[in-house]
Amino acid sequence: MATRRVVIGGGTGFIGRSLGERLLASGYNVINVARMPAANNISWSTLEVSGLPKATCAVVNCAGQQFMDFTKSWTPGFKQNVQNSRIYTTKALAKAINQSQDKPKVFVLITGVGAYEPSESNKYDESSPTTGLDFFSRLVVDWEKAAQVDPPVRLVVIRSGAVLGRWGGMIKNMFVPFYLGVGGRIGTGKQYLPWIHLNDLTRLIQFAIENDNVKGILNGVAPQVITNEEFTKVNL
Ligand SMILES: NC(=O)c1ccc[n+]([C@@H]2O[C@H](COP(=O)([O-])OP(=O)(O)OC[C@H]3O[C@@H](n4cnc5c(N)ncnc54)[C@H](OP(=O)(O)O)[C@@H]3O)[C@@H](O)[C@H]2O)c1
Repeated sequence: MATRRVVIGGGTGFIGRSLGERLLASGYNVINVARMPAANNISWSTLEVSGLPKATCAVVNCAGQQFMDFTKSWTPGFKQNVQNSRIYTTKALAKAINQSQDKPKVFVLITGVGAYEPSESNKYDESSPTTGLDFFSRLVVDWEKAAQVDPPVRLVVIRSGAVLGRWGGMIKNMFVPFYLGVGGRIGTGKQYLPWIHLNDLTRLIQFAIENDNVKGILNGVAPQVITNEEFTKVNL
């Protein structure tokens, strides 16, 4: 059987690592694009100079500077890192795909439901407008614009809710404040908190890789919607 290789930008992170494990278990070969060297990692500069590894059938971008980091303050420099780490990595992967002689079938980008205006009443689907009204919404608009791949490569953008899994992501970052007894609801607590379990998100990504009819925007969220207040009660 021909090699089925998937390249994952930020494949060392919470989502990327779990996705890599799932794909390996399904018989794929996985290469991460990462800032530090390791077995099965290539650097962003190697990607730029040498392009995609041979026989890459899919590229997924899970790279981005963590922003729910309670040890960092929201300085303009930090916000710029949050933005650049997503936009530059997405542009670099899109460029490598467009320049490849042996093109992958699909580019999957993981962005966020922060694209939509926070609301206590509106319901959003994939056709809802992105407002660009606040930092996150503008970030997602620019991030998705950076993913310009030429046909016939399929582009799938998964706007993910907060990803829940025991050992990382939102739960890991919330564990310390809740453990110290300072975690609590935000504002009125009535804001919706769209969420998805890590396993469902990685299965969705694999589904998007393997099904040629999947393209465009997908909202990666669980069917049941909870409020910030309900989430806080479950965590306490
Ligand atoms: N977790 C969530 O709840 C959630 C929800 C919606 C969307 N997302 C998006 O999904 C993506 C992955 O999230 P995650 O939770 O897996 O994050 P994560 O655990 O922090 O992993 C992100 C990866 O990005 C790479 N990275 C960090 N800073 C970078 C920089 N300045 N330049 C290039 N690469 C950098 C790191 O890889 P190296 O250190 O190996 O380079 C890291 O392993 C992010 O873009 C995030 O915004 C996450």
